[in-house]
Amino acid sequence: MQNKVTQLFQEAHGREPSIISRAPGRIEFIGNHTDYNGGTVLGAAVDSGVWVAAAPREDGRRRWRSAIGDAVIETGGELTKLEGDSSWINYPQGVLAAMQSHGLALPGGFDFAVESDLPVGAGLSSSAAIELASGLAFLAMTGQEVDRETLVKIGRKAENDFVGVPCGILDQGVSGFGKRHRLVFIDCKGPKFDRVPMPEGAHFWIFNTHTKHALVDGLYSARHSECMAAAADLGVKQLADATLELFASEVHQLSPTVAKRARHILEEIDRVGKSIAALERADLKTVGELLTASHRSSQHAFENSTPELDSLVDTLTRLPGVYGARLTGGGFGGAVMALTDGSFGEADADVVVETYQAEWGAEPQVLHMQTGEGAELIKPDAP
Ligand code: GLA
Repeated sequence: MQNKVTQLFQEAHGREPSIISRAPGRIEFIGNHTDYNGGTVLGAAVDSGVWVAAAPREDGRRRWRSAIGDAVIETGGELTKLEGDSSWINYPQGVLAAMQSHGLALPGGFDFAVESDLPVGAGLSSSAAIELASGLAFLAMTGQEVDRETLVKIGRKAENDFVGVPCGILDQGVSGFGKRHRLVFIDCKGPKFDRVPMPEGAHFWIFNTHTKHALVDGLYSARHSECMAAAADLGVKQLADATLELFASEVHQLSPTVAKRARHILEEIDRVGKSIAALERADLKTVGELLTASHRSSQHAFENSTPELDSLVDTLTRLPGVYGARLTGGGFGGAVMALTDGSFGEADADVVVETYQAEWGAEPQVLHMQTGEGAELIKPDAP
């Protein structure tokens, strides 16, 4: 990928990039929609992601090029939101805006190119990956350094304030703190970041339905608002401040819909804690049960699943070698993640594909994913 992004940069801008950075996509392991409620979550960085090549310009022009589409887009010094095919530029532009509000210096002009080997629409968070890779590139361009937590917060701020998605810190946190053979644990209240070893012999498979609810952004925001309403009704600042006991005693105050959303969040937070305990004793059977329970809660309580995702989980959990399966990410389409042992292979994945195809007339994309390292500056080398 380093060669590919370098070539794209050369082709678009006719010179060598002086900076190259990369950031991984992520799998949401467990802790669904808990992040913006101040809860806990586990995720894994994957070994594919987004690569940025860049070099400063003296004339103040900002020239952007992605591998999709062959045009170089030019923007001026002002940060204005773009629509349509150029809307990917809102992520790095949002990073510039967020750097500014963190009191950091901004680069003037630059040439920029971006490549990705993350599968599109699989819910692996290419947006966080481009935010973190861009952040590292802009910091290198201006000779500034920030700690990892600040980089992660800049990425989230870009998405919240400039792009306009009220996401939590999961995607950026995992892309920033990822490590091979580790899960990233985030206590989103601090936030506090930690890592939990992945027991040996556990494998990640992703089944990407390529489906996306037409209203996915609106539905994400709607769930966000319902959770805020639940916290207000329960008299807490954020849902993670409520206990399951408080919820049980106050549930009559909540509308049936809001009560279901709150139950999902509080039980998810409980499942994250239980998953960590089970991972620490390498009890993958229990971890798998918790993953599938998380999916069922999405299906029935948070209602962010779809019939396609449910059918994948149904098929997967019937197959030998599968510890558990759940939707990964925001939901309303996207992908299912399965945690399997080493006996699960291509032949089993084919069974899942054929069963899905018979029911839905379309083939899910299958990815056997490896864990990978968090965001890093590749060029220039760290001193
Ligand atoms: C999306 C958001 C994350 C998180 C998940 C759901 O991936 O970007 O912040 O809320 O959905 O857990």
